[in-house]
Amino acid sequence: MLTMIPQLLIDTVGIVAAFLLTFGLWRMSSPVTAPAGIKVAGVGMVAAVVASFLYSFSVGPAAAPHLPVNLALAVIALTVGIGLAWWSGRKVAMTAMPQMVALYNGMGGGAAGAIAAMELFGNHAHGMTQLSVTLLGAIIGAISLSGSLVAWAKLQGVLKKPLRIKGQQVINALVMIATLGVGLYIMYIVQSGEVPIMPMQGVIWLFFGCATLFGILMTLPIGGADMPVVISIYNAFTGLAVGLEGFVLQTPSLMIAGMLVGAAGILLTLLMARAMNRSVSNVLFTRFGDAARQTQGAIAGSLKPTAAGDAGIAMRYAGSVIIVPGYGLAAAQGQQKLYDFVKLLIAAGVKVRFAVHPVAGRMPGQMDVLLAEAGVPYDLIYQLEDINDDFASTDVVLVIGANDVVNPSARSEKTSPIFGMPILDADKAKQVYVVKRGEGKGYAGIVNPLFYADNCNMVYGDAQAVMTEMIEAVRGLGLPAAA
Ligand code: TAP
Repeated sequence: MLTMIPQLLIDTVGIVAAFLLTFGLWRMSSPVTAPAGIKVAGVGMVAAVVASFLYSFSVGPAAAPHLPVNLALAVIALTVGIGLAWWSGRKVAMTAMPQMVALYNGMGGGAAGAIAAMELFGNHAHGMTQLSVTLLGAIIGAISLSGSLVAWAKLQGVLKKPLRIKGQQVINALVMIATLGVGLYIMYIVQSGEVPIMPMQGVIWLFFGCATLFGILMTLPIGGADMPVVISIYNAFTGLAVGLEGFVLQTPSLMIAGMLVGAAGILLTLLMARAMNRSVSNVLFTRFGDAARQTQGAIAGSLKPTAAGDAGIAMRYAGSVIIVPGYGLAAAQGQQKLYDFVKLLIAAGVKVRFAVHPVAGRMPGQMDVLLAEAGVPYDLIYQLEDINDDFASTDVVLVIGANDVVNPSARSEKTSPIFGMPILDADKAKQVYVVKRGEGKGYAGIVNPLFYADNCNMVYGDAQAVMTEMIEAVRGLGLPAAA
């Protein structure tokens, strides 16, 4: 009975952890409930860690002598991990978040691979099901680890150019076949009891080496700009690998958490791909927009610069304004100044709303988080499908640090890399002001005809500095006390 108590306790705490992680993830589906969702999931993670420590009450006699050392090592690992995560989480800039997600994701894949390695090197995995699940989790975990690290290096600027060689896809296919071949050989040796052609440890190292190499080779040719989608795919891989290793260890909370991450990662990948009107295979195997960039023709019209103060005053006297934020706003960290400006407009009786495109910025939900960080109320923030019809009846649209998400060539130019991507119909408004630093292109690397249109003026400058000028200009007019 006594030995039953710890197991019952472990299972109960594990189930509570799984419930909290699921509930937390569900709460993260809306920006209103997301902060609470993250905290709930955090408590779930603490419960999962507690559950793993409870295993020390039920170790067998053979493992008991190692318990103090193993517990000490686990505590040291936890302390270092928590310390690093705390430090990096506080320090990381909003625009560097994709790199951080890539790193954390790689660690998840590595952890799943490490569990599989313990099972394989320790010869704990027996029987077809357990062995095949261990090996599958090992392959996916190793690919996710090396692929995520390459993705991190690209986003961080450590790897500057995509590395493409002739026959790349054939090489990748051969490495994958080799990985599967070595995996099948391990299964055969373990099942038949025959002596392997080389020491078993070497075979297992070869297996992990091939899987790791595949992750590197698969990610190297992909352009840095496609990395957010790639990270999302690896996120799904990591979840799957963790879920499979949870099955191997017979740990329900690990299985549930892994499968949740896997399913969420797959859904997110599909949603991102759909919002860009690209297939996942197009992201993985096609060089984004190369042909279109080479063939893009001349654009009619001209760029018409205007002063920030003039644009600000025009908005102060408008009846309605829609603001389209994009990557440049995050890069400039201009969200607080933008909201200060919006408060001035609202105080002056202007109807102001924000229009958020599903792939604005460089990671899902980046604009929602950015605006929430500045304190913008959620009822001012509209998603594409809820606001797109209103652009035509709007006096002024302020496009700030955005480019591709308002590029009208997505509607009509068949050769455009963003052809078919739903865009925010900013060009249909009576007047458009675009805030950007110069003639830099967006993520897709193409010219935006909106900037040359008759109803559009360019306000050149860093988004934060431009907002400061607009605030000063509007304040200079004299405003109601509420502002
Ligand atoms: P982009 O099209 O990338 O345009 C950003 C613009 O911001 C640039 O044209 C740049 O022009 C300007 N900018 C940069 N720094 C600035 C600063 N400090 N102040 C003012 N402006 C600045 O951004 P978007 O419209 O948000 O579109 C997002 C793109 O990323 C889409 O093509 C989307 O498909 C892609 N993407 C998104 C995701 C997710 S999940 N969000 C994932 C993968 C890919 P200047 O250099 O002239 O200033």
